[in-house]
Amino acid sequence: MKKIMSMLLVLSMLLMGAAMAESETLTMATNAAFPPYEYYDDETGEVTGIDVEIAQAICDKLGYELEVVDTDFDSIVPGVVSGKYSFGMAGMTVNEERLQSVNFSNTYATGVQVVIVPEDSPITSVDDLFAEGADNAIGVQQGTTGDLYATGDIEEAGLGSVERFKTGTDAVLALTTGKLDCVIIDNEPAKNFVAANEGLKILDTEYAVEDYAACFAKENTELLEAFNTALAELTEDGTVPAIIEKYIPSTEAAAEEAPAEEAAAE
Ligand code: ARG
Repeated sequence: MKKIMSMLLVLSMLLMGAAMAESETLTMATNAAFPPYEYYDDETGEVTGIDVEIAQAICDKLGYELEVVDTDFDSIVPGVVSGKYSFGMAGMTVNEERLQSVNFSNTYATGVQVVIVPEDSPITSVDDLFAEGADNAIGVQQGTTGDLYATGDIEEAGLGSVERFKTGTDAVLALTTGKLDCVIIDNEPAKNFVAANEGLKILDTEYAVEDYAACFAKENTELLEAFNTALAELTEDGTVPAIIEKYIPSTEAAAEEAPAEEAAAE
């Protein structure tokens, strides 16, 4: 009896080992200078954030290991297309141009393009950027929708120049050292950058409102469908909302958006 038991134990351990070795790894391409969606945790030195946690929860559910690869933002879509990465997740906006080359998952968050300026800037609203005779030096992260808008609406319209940086962090650094008049970037990273740097503010007016989703190679519809199903279940059971709440507390958002209402409710 004892012998059979120990044989069974050995057998089950072997099987478990095999199953573990077999669990496939999905590689997620991101650009980890985009807090709170993806950034390096100071303590662990690992890439963390909303996208990483959602991707991890989805992989756990689907039985995959997750490997996060930090790369240039504008090499995510080409790398997904070529099959170098299983998917891309980087606070990435769904747009027509990208839809030509990749498929997007269902959206899991909203992003707003905003404008960061020095506190004493003469630019007081987004409209100032399009005003006749405007001539601003605009910083963006290369290959982002902020780049796309600034290039089309401002540079090509003869209303200024666009400087393209590898990361949003680099663009903001150039702004703090007086090399730029403003930076166009997504609102949540913008809030992080403004909090981390003295003398900057975000204009009240929004440039554009967008949807974030993960991107997949066109032929990889099976993984896309599994991802969408897992995402829907994890949204339904509260996992995804809890991850977002952890990084972007809604009390903070509510206090910012509707201070009057909150006071009235008390
Ligand atoms: N939402 C913008 C876009 O899709 C910017 C995303 C930048 N993301 C990043 N991880 N750096 O173009």
